[in-house]
Amino acid sequence: MAVLYPSLLAADEHSLDKAVRQLETIAHGFHIDIMDNKFVPNTGISVEKTNALAKITYRQLWVHLMVEEPESYLNQLQLPADSILTFHIESHKQSSKMINKILEKKWLPGIAVKPKTSVGEVFPFLGSIYQALIMSVEPGFSGQPFLEETLDKIGPLLGYRDTSHLKFKIAIDGGISEKNLAKVVQKRVDEIAIGSAIFDAKVGPVKALQLLSEIAE
Ligand code: DX5
Ligand code: ZN
Repeated sequence: MAVLYPSLLAADEHSLDKAVRQLETIAHGFHIDIMDNKFVPNTGISVEKTNALAKITYRQLWVHLMVEEPESYLNQLQLPADSILTFHIESHKQSSKMINKILEKKWLPGIAVKPKTSVGEVFPFLGSIYQALIMSVEPGFSGQPFLEETLDKIGPLLGYRDTSHLKFKIAIDGGISEKNLAKVVQKRVDEIAIGSAIFDAKVGPVKALQLLSEIAE
């Protein structure tokens, strides 16, 4: 069983409040992509909008920082306790410091790896983080095709978690749809961000999330 987080980057940027209200009763939480147009060639959802969304929903927020200076973004964010804050291993040379800062805020620290980054890079931090995030597309945009080879990172994480008796969650983000969700869930992923398969679905986002949730159970 995996928990699904609609990724709001794929929703109409002028109606994010509406998207949240529409899905709030059935979504476990919401995935919010913040970008600086440097770490990735795009701008995502602003810090101001993220803080505003945090005020209107009772659901958990999972904020994904795709920025060169995650610490400065962390300082501007106003999120409730137990929000997930994920930063990229590639963007921060002092991951331990970043983890501690997130814990001080009473948030849950996550570390993401880009498709070409070895998953071994996060191993030294797995004892102190809530979540390891495998990017299954190059970060930056919704609606890209799923990179199948990224699934190979799940096995080593599961192995490390079992042998080390750790409890971190394994998450995946990018290119997940009704076509590959069952396979991803079977591989024992815990948390999944899904954008275009929800917000571009012909049946509408509510029905799409319901159908995807059935597959994920
Ligand atoms: C990509 C973002 C994802 C994206 C997912 O950089 O991190 O969260 O919005 O969208 P889909 O599911 O369409 O790939
Ligand atoms: Zn994301």
